[in-house]
Amino acid sequence: MSAPIGVFDSGYGGLTILKELKQQLPQYDYIYLGDNARAPYGPRSFESVYEYTLEAVQWFFDQGCELVILACNTASAKALRNIQQLDLPNLAPDKRVLGVIRPSSEVLGNYSNSKQVGIMGTTGTVQSESYIIEMAKFFPEVKVFQQACPMWVPLIENGEYDKAGADYFVKSYLDQLFSQSKDIDTILLACTHYPLLAAKIASYLPKGVKLVSQGDIVATSLSQYLDNHPEMANKCSQKASLQFYTTDNAQTFEKQASAFFGQKVEAKHTDLA
Ligand code: DGL
Repeated sequence: MSAPIGVFDSGYGGLTILKELKQQLPQYDYIYLGDNARAPYGPRSFESVYEYTLEAVQWFFDQGCELVILACNTASAKALRNIQQLDLPNLAPDKRVLGVIRPSSEVLGNYSNSKQVGIMGTTGTVQSESYIIEMAKFFPEVKVFQQACPMWVPLIENGEYDKAGADYFVKSYLDQLFSQSKDIDTILLACTHYPLLAAKIASYLPKGVKLVSQGDIVATSLSQYLDNHPEMANKCSQKASLQFYTTDNAQTFEKQASAFFGQKVEAKHTDLA
């Protein structure tokens, strides 16, 4: 039986991570699931995001996955800890579920000279304070400022990210972030949807401020993880295959997905739970 690496997001955002995984680790099999029928997760409660994410993880295990990446900051913030600590030991003690917040926090401080960084994410990610907690472990000297950007995912999911209307909300959230400190010199796009807005965001940034996306960081971190865990690397099948599933309409998914993944995809519908 094949054991693809599972890649999960509430919708399309995780495709920006999968694109980089494919680039850096092309030999592995991957299976992507977007819970589009219930996206966005950003404004949802802790309980809902945990319940939905656990259903997705179970689905990946049913497909034979040994390793699942939550390529969604909101799910990583609200569900990962419980899944790792409470569910995995009973469900599948030898399987692994990893997120995107820790690998991002492990390196983000290295980008900053002023030691002040901005985290832009969904309301759920910001409220969880996961980045503040994780960054304190790896870069205690770095000050972390957070800004929730609740309008960005809807603009992106509705294909408005490169239209003039998006400018207002890009500028507005950046202004709110920089009103907390003028010395922020590094911004993490802490939502896997946001790379689609990167060009617009960059056009409003003060000179010298770095904009960091997570795809490359997460792929590098997974590559190191697999090097350090050969027992897991050996369990993940390597036929360079790609499968895409959505909990919503497969044709709609196929139409939107290429903007996130950079190439055409063929998707199938699946139900969770
Ligand atoms: N792509 C997800 C993230 O990284 C969130 C999008 C959503 O709100 O569902 O946070």
